[in-house]
Parts: sequence; structure tokens; C-alpha cells
Amino acid sequence: MNVEQILSQFQATGVESCFHDRHINPQIYAGLNGKNWGIQDYEARGGYAALRKILGKDGAEPHAETGVAGMTQDQVIATVKESGLRGRGGAGFPTGLKWSFMPRQFPGQKYLVCNSDEGEPGTCKDRDIMEYNPHTVIEGMIIAAYAMGISVGYNYIHGEIFHTYERFEAALEEARAAGYLGNNIMGSTFSFQLHASHGFGAYICGEETALLESLEGKKGQPRFKPPFPASFGLYGKPTTINNTETFAAVPWIIRNGGQAYLECGKPNNGGTKIFSVSGDVERPGNYEVPMGTPFAKLLELAGGVRGGRQLKAVIPGGSSSPVVPAELMMKLTMDYDSIAKEGGSMLGSGAVIVMDETRCMVQALARLSYFYSHESCGQCTPCREGTGWLWRMVDRIEHGQGRVSDIDMLDSVAGNIMGRTICALGDAAAMPVRGMLKHFRHEFVHLIEHKTSMVGADATAVKTHG
Ligand SMILES: Cc1cc2nc3c(=O)[nH]c(=O)nc-3n(C[C@H](O)[C@H](O)[C@H](O)COP(=O)(O)O)c2cc1C
Ligand code: SF4
Repeated sequence: MNVEQILSQFQATGVESCFHDRHINPQIYAGLNGKNWGIQDYEARGGYAALRKILGKDGAEPHAETGVAGMTQDQVIATVKESGLRGRGGAGFPTGLKWSFMPRQFPGQKYLVCNSDEGEPGTCKDRDIMEYNPHTVIEGMIIAAYAMGISVGYNYIHGEIFHTYERFEAALEEARAAGYLGNNIMGSTFSFQLHASHGFGAYICGEETALLESLEGKKGQPRFKPPFPASFGLYGKPTTINNTETFAAVPWIIRNGGQAYLECGKPNNGGTKIFSVSGDVERPGNYEVPMGTPFAKLLELAGGVRGGRQLKAVIPGGSSSPVVPAELMMKLTMDYDSIAKEGGSMLGSGAVIVMDETRCMVQALARLSYFYSHESCGQCTPCREGTGWLWRMVDRIEHGQGRVSDIDMLDSVAGNIMGRTICALGDAAAMPVRGMLKHFRHEFVHLIEHKTSMVGADATAVKTHG
């Protein structure tokens, strides 16, 4: 099967979106209709009130401790810490803690970067935020810049969604014209310049250091860490990078308080989270729900499994997170801790890929492995060679030419990639392989022994190999 044939099996339906009434307590997607993305509508929804609050422009009385109306940098960071907000880009790192790593007293230039590369298969939440509520990202970035004493920021937007980039540029113009961006914001001593930049669609440019290289105009290849971006980031200067959804959550936190945000979710997993639900569901789309919502509820919101079929498995956090079998998944809640500790997987970027009983796991893994082999930047040997090796092995199993020894070899190659590479793409390629072998080894064995997939005869994914 050539590349075009492989890709043609996995076309998006184009109906994914955030415009529906099946969110639960939404904060970022609340009240959006596709037309009300502009600054006046945003302000009518309470937008830029958080910025007014930190700059003391809301008529507030002077703070009891500081004597100034508004919030100090330390107070903003403490509020974000209290909120339990964890980075929405994949790793779930506590945002307030990350902000506290920025050396605020550094005398030279410091940078703030928003990661809107959104290349993880199954993830489509950030583009909806930027297209339909761009000012919440802008306001979140302004607040972050204030908290960390940063005067210049960039939003790096995925190259294949150019219309989203144009929408974000239009929103930036509005914010500049309204005095929310630029010099002496709202008459204060705080200045912040924010620019949009678009990439060219490489998945690896979502990795934070590859993103920085790309932003500098170089080939997007990850840097070895340490040093981390907080000390050596964009142009070698201290830099804080957060995901689009992470920044978008900040205005609500400042307006309503850290404790209120924490209570929206569950301990250590504050707030709401946007899940991009795709695959075999009746209503694929973006769903914003409180952290800790049962997976069963999320599935129900998405209309249940398509065609009344049985749920077989779920990839809960984007293509790099290990697959979870249906029975286990139905017991989990959608938050970092439940998915990791009880499900043995990762919440990742929140892309929930639902697979019904007709899905052949060998075929699914072949598709995933092809992706990682294609997207490896080639710097490290275990990733460059290993991802191709994984794909070729799964591909030959899928096509009835596998050997029994391939299964152990798959596990061994995956194990030898993990932890031996410059960036986490190597792990991201290996983890799905290990997850599939852990839970669905029998499907691989069956295909090798019988040269035919073991999914049911009436299944759409059934394939007979000769
Ligand atoms: C291969 C790879 C791809 C990534 N792609 C993205 C991405 O598209 N968007 C994103 O926000 N983070 C992505 N990340 C994670 C970033 O490196 C980084 O952790 C994140 O932007 C930090 O923001 P957060 O703390 O708000 O999550 C990726 C990581 C890896 C290893
Ligand atoms: S792990 Fe892969 S993608 Fe990451 S730096 Fe190494 S070769 Fe490049």
C-alpha cells in the first residue's frame, strides 16, 4: 500500500467543531457562535477584565498588603499556582511553577512564546480557540508577560491553518488599537509587544525547542536539554513557552480566583479541559468539560459509539499516548492522574481517539508508526532508524508477511528507542507500540499465524491478506 492509499483511509469528516451545547461548565468555549470572535464581543463576555484587574484599572481599592490597586507579579503567579492549572500541550507541567522559573531580574531581553503548532494527530482544539476566541489567548499572554516581566512575545501557529493565523493577526490589530498591547498598556508602565508567526506544518516544530529554532528561522530540530528554555530559549534568552489552551485559561483564573478554578476540576487537576473527540463516535468535535469528568460521560456527550457498535479501545491523549482497552477506559475519569495512574496511559493533549469493535489494531498501529517515522527529524539514530524499523515491521505483519519473532522484535526496538533520544518524539513513537502489544498482542499473533485480521467478518476494517 502506498502513502496516498494509507492516508486516504484516515480523512477527517470536517464536522469537528466547538459549536454545540454539549460542553459542561465551559470557560474558553462559552458563548461562542463563530461570529463573535471580535474584541467588542469578547469584552461583552467579560474579556480584558482580568487585565484591568491586574493593572488596577477596575476601580478596585488598594490591596491591603501592597497598597496598590491591582496585582503584583508574585500575586499573579501565586494565583496561577493555586489554580492547579497544568500545561495543556501534553506534559501537564504545573503552569504557575513554570512561570516562577523565569529569572525576572535578568537584565536582557526575555521572551514569551505560545505554542499553537498543534500537530498531534487527533488534536484540533487550539485552532478553534484561536479562530473563535482569539482574544482570550492574547489576554492570557499579556497577563503572563506582566507576571514574568517580559516585553516581547510570539504566537507560533501551525502552518497548515493559514486562515487561523490571519484571524489571530486581525485580533492582534484590534488589541493594539484598543491599547491592550503595545507601549504603556492602559496608561501603566507595563509594555508588551505580541506578534504572530506561522510554521510550515512539521509535527516536530511543536516540540518546544524545535519551535524556538523554527521561530529563529532555522530548521526545526529539537535542542538538547538542559539548558531549558527558561535559561536559554529564543535567541539564547530566557523564554517561557506555554500551549494555546494554557494561556486561554488564564483570564478566567485571574477574574474568578485560583481556588474557584481548582474547584472546577479535581485536586491537582484544576479547571476545565478541552477534549478533541474523534474516531468512531456519532458526534466528533471539541468538548470542554471539567477535569475529572468520567470518560463514559464524555463518550455520551459525543453521541456514543457510532452505529451502536461496541467500544473496543480508546487512545486517550493524542496518538503518542498508549491505547486503553474499553473495559478499563470506562472506569477512568478524564484527568492527568486517573489516565496515568489507573489507565497506564497519558492525558497528553486531550485528543480522544475512539475505536469500535471493527477496528484492526495492527492496521491502527501501522498508521501511527508510519506517522512517527515520517515526522522524525532524523537527528538521533534510535529515533531515525527505530521509527522506520517499527513501521516496516508492523506494515509487513499487516500485509500477512510477519514472522512470530517480529512481535518480540517490535517490543525490543520500542524499548531501545525510549529514553535514548534528544526529544520525546522517540518515546511518542515507542509508547503506542508497547501499549498495543500489552493489550492487543493476540491480534498481532493472529494476523501472523492466519494472514488475516481477527476483527469480525462484518467489520468495515476487516482485511484478508494472501
Ligand atoms: C514531538 C512533540 C510535539 C509536540 N507538539 C506540541 C504542540 O503541537 N503543541 C503544544 O502545545 N505542545 C507540544 N509539545 C509539548 C511542548 O514541547 C511543550 O511541552 C509545551 O508547549 C509546553 O506548554 P504547556 O506547559 O502549556 O503544556 C510537543 C512535544 C513533543 C515532544
Ligand atoms: S527523538 Fe527523533 S524527532 Fe526528536 S530530536 Fe531525535 S530524531 Fe529528532
